[in-house]
Amino acid sequence: MRSLLPLIVLAGGLVACDSEAPAPAPAPAPAPAAPPPPAEDPVLTRAKALFQPLPDFMEGPAGKPSPELIDLGRALYYDTRLSKNHDISCNSCHDLARFGVDGEPTSPGHKGQRGGRNSPTSLNAALHVAQFWDGRAADVEAQAKGPVLNPIEMAMADEATVVKTLQSIPGYVEMFGKAFPGDANAVSYDHMAAAIGAFERGLVTPSPFDAFLKGDAAALTDAQKDGLTAFMDTGCTACHAGVAMGGQGYFKLGMAVPYETKDAGRKEVTGNEADLAVFKAPSLRNITKTAPYFHDGSIATLEQAVTLMAKHQLGKELAEADVARIVTFLGATEGTLNADYVKKPELPASGPETPKPDPS
Ligand code: HEC
Ligand code: HEC
Repeated sequence: MRSLLPLIVLAGGLVACDSEAPAPAPAPAPAPAAPPPPAEDPVLTRAKALFQPLPDFMEGPAGKPSPELIDLGRALYYDTRLSKNHDISCNSCHDLARFGVDGEPTSPGHKGQRGGRNSPTSLNAALHVAQFWDGRAADVEAQAKGPVLNPIEMAMADEATVVKTLQSIPGYVEMFGKAFPGDANAVSYDHMAAAIGAFERGLVTPSPFDAFLKGDAAALTDAQKDGLTAFMDTGCTACHAGVAMGGQGYFKLGMAVPYETKDAGRKEVTGNEADLAVFKAPSLRNITKTAPYFHDGSIATLEQAVTLMAKHQLGKELAEADVARIVTFLGATEGTLNADYVKKPELPASGPETPKPDPS
């Protein structure tokens, strides 16, 4: 109470001072009390605490890339000349017209060879804490260095061969120069990967679920809201939450009930026995469109994947009806790419020195 006294005195002093100025205009009549805002949909309130809407662009630590860098990355993403036999590009396994996947359990690479893992979608992938099922690449820029040299994917011999190929294409020399201005070594393997990564950072798919999270409670149907409630009540959000609905942490596949898999998962990266069969929880955005499922592509339908998840990760036997509710909700995460952004550009023409396709 005592501390208030000097304040009051001070206020009085101010009024005295002002009294020499012209009389202040009369205060406007108080506005009529605003009606209380309508109560927010409780499902929306709950969801907002667990998920965030997608950004327009998945900016990395380097900030927003230049349009020239993105244009270069777009061309490289579609260019089969980054493969030994000029028959495979990033887009072969991560088809931008098919939600960033190829629909295969495992993908055919050079000479039709297949690895042991399913191609995850490249859409929204830049949001993940790290790349690959086991998180062995830090970000999309680092990830893009892998497939080009992988003998069962694009099968280029080595970095030098890739750089020589790019340098043999006059249009690329020009594009790298614009993307890395003033850099005497503009055409490099790392710059190739940086450009592809920059392009991938724009592969965002805003969906009805994003409109909902931004406050439009009517963006989801009642059935989708009911499914969202089932998803949250079941506990899926322990691993599939945040802006990507996953992609943020590593978990043992079979945490509650053991799950049979030959894949060592993250143990291959860390060498720790505790990481056996540990995988990055994938993003569930567009999941209705990216079958088949799981790291080995062995699960054909989303219904099966949801049922197995509840059992093996949470120790719950979900009724068929609850599985259907969750699948209905997941459909609300189907989003759209910006068609102009992902349109395949005209690729620069090969030069006389450009290597010929090599099927060997
Ligand atoms: C022959 C098929 C194939 C080609 C070609 C290919 N990928 Fe992949 N991609 C895969 C597979 C399989 C994985 C998962 C491998 C793993 O986790 O060990 C993967 C993983 C990824 C991921 C990680 C996504 C995530 O959720 O962790 C990104 C991003 C990606 N690829 C982008 C690219 C880019 C960019 C190119 C071109 C430079 C490319 N891929 C070429 C098959 C392919
Ligand atoms: C304890 C963490 C955890 C919980 C809880 C969890 N998941 Fe998963 N989820 C994962 C991991 C890890 C994977 C990757 C599995 C693999 O390696 O194949 C995954 C994979 C999936 C996939 C396949 C994704 C793809 O691209 O192949 C779907 C669908 C899925 N989860 C849905 C759910 C649903 C629905 C629930 C709730 C019933 C749930 N998850 C609960 C960790 C979890």
